[in-house]
Parts: sequence; structure tokens; C-alpha cells
Amino acid sequence: MSAQYDAIAADYKRTRESPLRRYVEARSFFSLLGDVCGKNVLDLACGEGFYTRRLKQAGAANVLGVDISAGMITLAEEEEGREALGIRYVCADVAELELGESFDLVTATYLLHYSASEAELGEMCLRIAAHLKPGGRLVCINENPMQTANDYKGYTQYGFNKSVELPRVEGSPISYAMVSGRKMIRFNAYFYSREAYETALRAAGFSDIQWHGLQLDPAGAQECGAEYFREYLENPPIAILECRL
Ligand SMILES: C[S@@+](CC[C@H](N)C(=O)[O-])C[C@H]1O[C@@H](n2cnc3c(N)ncnc32)[C@H](O)[C@@H]1O
Repeated sequence: MSAQYDAIAADYKRTRESPLRRYVEARSFFSLLGDVCGKNVLDLACGEGFYTRRLKQAGAANVLGVDISAGMITLAEEEEGREALGIRYVCADVAELELGESFDLVTATYLLHYSASEAELGEMCLRIAAHLKPGGRLVCINENPMQTANDYKGYTQYGFNKSVELPRVEGSPISYAMVSGRKMIRFNAYFYSREAYETALRAAGFSDIQWHGLQLDPAGAQECGAEYFREYLENPPIAILECRL
């Protein structure tokens, strides 16, 4: 898994320019997060710090970013070196995480669906719970388990493609191909049903599990036209997951 993102770290960083990330993904994520002022936040699968930095800029007291890819952590630290926000970064596998600290809020944008098995999904959820204070919240952006395998279409106009090995079962590989600048980047994740996610989360002590749809920032509709986002919003490949310890 580490190698997967080491190889595409710089190209993945370019996806932050996508209108979908700015006007749908980030909007949906932050409106659900609400006020993070003064909170201690652990940002898992932080990548090059796309959300990690925004969390700190939104007023979080302390933010720690964790990612398994050394290449991604290097990019995040370079950005911190250019403009220091006081963020700490650690290169580690969430399934084996032991930071010896606990946080008010854990965010995990694009993490859980990289678990290569249901056992690993369970480990990740346990490790996340171990780093949350009682009553703390976990908010994730995740591959959308409510889509059927037939729904994985209609994204070419947005510069990416999503496909799954059939028959789709728990742990089936999902392949993404995405245009980044003049390159095509590819990465793999895994399909798990909503039940599989919720079972793993409950076993780790989480409750109040909710899946949320996506929202469009009015600024995006103004810049690109609402029609641009319509097909994506009608068949969202991602969902926001929220639960509490
Ligand atoms: C699609 S990127 C998302 C990065 C960032 N959260 C964002 O939204 O821009 C997924 C990230 O998950 C990281 N990742 C995957 N499995 C992981 C694991 N077991 N532990 C920590 N990070 C992991 C990858 O290295 C990669 O940086």
C-alpha cells in the first residue's frame, strides 16, 4: 500500500485542483465537521496534507497527520517547511498505530477502503478507537458502499473511472484511473458493504453511525454551473461516514 502512493504522490497532489474536490468533497466534509476550533485532531491517511492543513487553518488547536506513504509525508512536510502551521506528521500504518495520545476528533479521508481484508478493517477501527477520547467523533470520506456494481459509471467527464472485479463480494478490488495534469494515475481500493463497515466500527466501540450524502458549494455552481456536478451528485462514488466513540 505504501508503494502505491509513493509512486503517485506528486501526481495525486494535483487532484486538489479538481472542482469536485474543492466544491463538493471539501464542502461536504467541513460542513459536517462543524466547528473544530480548539480541538485536538488526528488526520489519518493525511496524504500530502490537503485536509490536514485546512483543519489547522480552521482553528484546530493541534493537528497530527498520519500516512503510510513516506512520499506523501515528505510532500506534507515540505509544505509545512514552506509555510509552518505547527502540524506534526508521522509515517505509519493506521492498522498498527500506537501514538500514545488521544484526540477529540479523528478524520480519515479515503482510508478505510484501503483495508485489504475485513480483518484489517477491524484492526483499523480498533486502532482509531484507541486514539479517540471517550465521546470523540470519527469523520471519514469513504468509497460509497451504497452504490451497486452497476452504478460505477458516468465519471469519465470528471476525468476518472471506477471499476470493480465481478462478482463483487466483501474485499473485491476496486480500481481507479484518474487524469492528473497530463498523466493517468491508477490506484486500487477494496469494496466493503455498509454492514461490513458498521460491524467493524461497532466492534471497536463506535455507535451513532451515520452515512451522509454530498453537498455542492454554491461557489462551485457559480464557477462551473450546477449542471457540471449533476451526474456526480446523482451517483456519488463517495460518502461521508460519521460515528462516535
Ligand atoms: C486517496 S489518498 C487521500 C489523501 C488525503 N486524505 C486527501 O484526501 O487528499 C489515500 C491516502 O491513504 C493512505 N493510506 C492508505 N492506507 C493507509 C494505512 N493503512 N495507513 C495510513 N495511511 C494509509 C495512502 O498512502 C494515501 O496517502
